[in-house]
Amino acid sequence: MQLSKNVELRSAKNQVDVLIIDNDFSEAQISLYGGHVLSFAPKSDNRERLWVSECAVLDGTKAIRGGVPICWPWFGEHVSNGHPSVKRQAHGYVRTQQWQVVECVDSDIGTVVTLKPEAAVNPGFDSLGEGEAEGEAEGEGNVDLQLTVSIGNVLAVELTTKNVGATPFEFGGALHSYFNIEDISQTQLHGLSGDYLDKAPSFIDKSSVGASSGLQVTPETYIFEKETDNIHLSVERRLSIRAANFSIDVESQGHDSIVVWNPWIEKSAAMADMQDDGYQSMLCVEAAITQGVTLAPNEQHTLTQIIR
Ligand code: BG6
Repeated sequence: MQLSKNVELRSAKNQVDVLIIDNDFSEAQISLYGGHVLSFAPKSDNRERLWVSECAVLDGTKAIRGGVPICWPWFGEHVSNGHPSVKRQAHGYVRTQQWQVVECVDSDIGTVVTLKPEAAVNPGFDSLGEGEAEGEAEGEGNVDLQLTVSIGNVLAVELTTKNVGATPFEFGGALHSYFNIEDISQTQLHGLSGDYLDKAPSFIDKSSVGASSGLQVTPETYIFEKETDNIHLSVERRLSIRAANFSIDVESQGHDSIVVWNPWIEKSAAMADMQDDGYQSMLCVEAAITQGVTLAPNEQHTLTQIIR
């Protein structure tokens, strides 16, 4: 693995391998398990922007609770022929795969790390079509997936899906970022408007998204006082998480929805990989594709989140 001057690999027994990036602008960490950014703190204020659970499983046996999980090629529960599938893990399979470093480059504006997952094609993702019939190697399929993480004054996470085969395919996903907000009762989210779906079981039936029933109007003052699992059918790009004494700016591109999630008291307590009061110091604001993107041969799509 070829690393650059500002990037080191930290390996420990029974722990995920982590890239430690330290340049003139910021410090960051990326787990190779999941291609998962764990930490980002710009040197201008040394404030950690991302939240990782104190109980996160970091031995590579479970998706990491916190940071920026890469959800792909589906968002939420797997849906098969319009019905939920009980067999597939939620949020796709790349967040539990080992990723490989393709390139690390330092420049005068920061460091760019490019990663690829072990296998972009796995059961549950119907991307093979003619490509497979033409004799492509098993597991390769017709999709190329690449993650580019740019660490400078800001953190940019870009997930690019490319159709390198001969048939169209559809995919979904999310950059499921967990932000470090210190105190949820002092936190507001600014920049969203329009309708949202308060996530109900009917959510997985895509035809219900966009129907008038179940949709609610985004409040002008977006605060957190209960479990929140909202899918905003909105392509607003610039959002601001305003905590008591600081803000985190989040810019999204390539999404069809913004998902806002806080598990609140009971669900925090029920999750083995979240401390009981974990909900108090985190907020997920996710750049998501919940409606599906279809790529024709040679087309590509990039889902981006830029965190300041
Ligand atoms: C959010 C979903 O994106 O992720 C929630 O909208 C879900 O419903 C949450 O609970 C966490 O998912 P997971 O699979 O990481 O526990």
